[in-house]
Amino acid sequence: MTTTHLPESLISTLPGNYYTDSDIFKLEQEKVFEEMWFCAVRAADLDKPGAFKTVQIGRESVIVTRSRTGEIRAFLNICAHRGARLCTEESGEVKRSFQCPYHAWTYDLDGKLVAAPNLTKMPDIDRVEYGLKNVAVQEWIGYVWLNLADEPTSFDTTVVQDIRDRLGDVESIDRYDIANLDLGRRIVYDVKANWKLIIENFMECYHCATIHPELTEVLPEFADGYAAQYYVGHGAEFGEGVEGFTVDGSAGHDVIPGIAEEQDRRYYAITVRPTVFVNLVPDHVIVHRMFPLAADHTIVECDWLYLPEVVATGKDLDRSVELFHRVNQQDFDACERCQPAMDSRRYRDGGVLVPSEHHIGEFHDWLRAKIAH
Ligand code: FES
Ligand SMILES: [Fe+2]
Repeated sequence: MTTTHLPESLISTLPGNYYTDSDIFKLEQEKVFEEMWFCAVRAADLDKPGAFKTVQIGRESVIVTRSRTGEIRAFLNICAHRGARLCTEESGEVKRSFQCPYHAWTYDLDGKLVAAPNLTKMPDIDRVEYGLKNVAVQEWIGYVWLNLADEPTSFDTTVVQDIRDRLGDVESIDRYDIANLDLGRRIVYDVKANWKLIIENFMECYHCATIHPELTEVLPEFADGYAAQYYVGHGAEFGEGVEGFTVDGSAGHDVIPGIAEEQDRRYYAITVRPTVFVNLVPDHVIVHRMFPLAADHTIVECDWLYLPEVVATGKDLDRSVELFHRVNQQDFDACERCQPAMDSRRYRDGGVLVPSEHHIGEFHDWLRAKIAH
């Protein structure tokens, strides 16, 4: 880094190769995505026993499913026999077992080996040991979080702590009762940019006045470039005359009943490392999950969640969804605009962060420490 020559107002970003180098991406897969709690699927998407999704976490493909007794289970998507990938579909439903398409080893929904050609002639095979490899599961705010580490870190001191650091406590998010909201809309974005550019962008609001005209109408304080997340517990207040968190500031839907008075008419953005953003507004919650696939390629799944009665009665969600859908497009366009520069000689030592972005430096320090050993 070339911090020595920088004026006091500026600090360096990471060097450009952190956003393009496949060796660094591999380290991130190993030390970040495969070590930390990774938000994989929305629990309600697995609506019955045998419903499954496959997700890419770091270098691993993982099957997430629901057992016959209703618990979420996750397994490495690898047959214990000769290693064939069990499921190639992104999602689907099996009746009571997963069968390998190669030699037909068959596993129940708890991952146990239950059948295989000639299995009775091999009575010494332990059905659990030669079953599917379990992945640690935690359900929280209605999402399934997975941890691939041999000894997973505490969920409370990592994921939940990120919430505490941002909101000041956990009760503030509990009030939105996110696990009991329903999915109103899901949009999947294919972003040709490094996952860290997406996080860095989400962490600062220096760009808001330039690229987010609709958002700054609703949240006038964002036009100053100081994002709400700088101050613990602070939510950005809706502008005068703004009735709801919608693309034109018109009224939204029924307010989530449990939220506190001070949470009404406010927007809270939370970054949960490594790959999740949670956005809280009075009548809905927006959850972003990133799936980093390569140094320059990230899939972002974005869920808009509302009270069940709002979704069930078919209320028009368009104006509500449109606001953050535009924000997402504006943000991801900006990230894609920066990605090619990461390979340029101009960015060999990185760019710079202005004072209202200096907190991104902490993210960079955290990332460097994670992949250092
Ligand atoms: S590799 Fe799966 S049954 Fe042989
Ligand atoms: Fe933005």
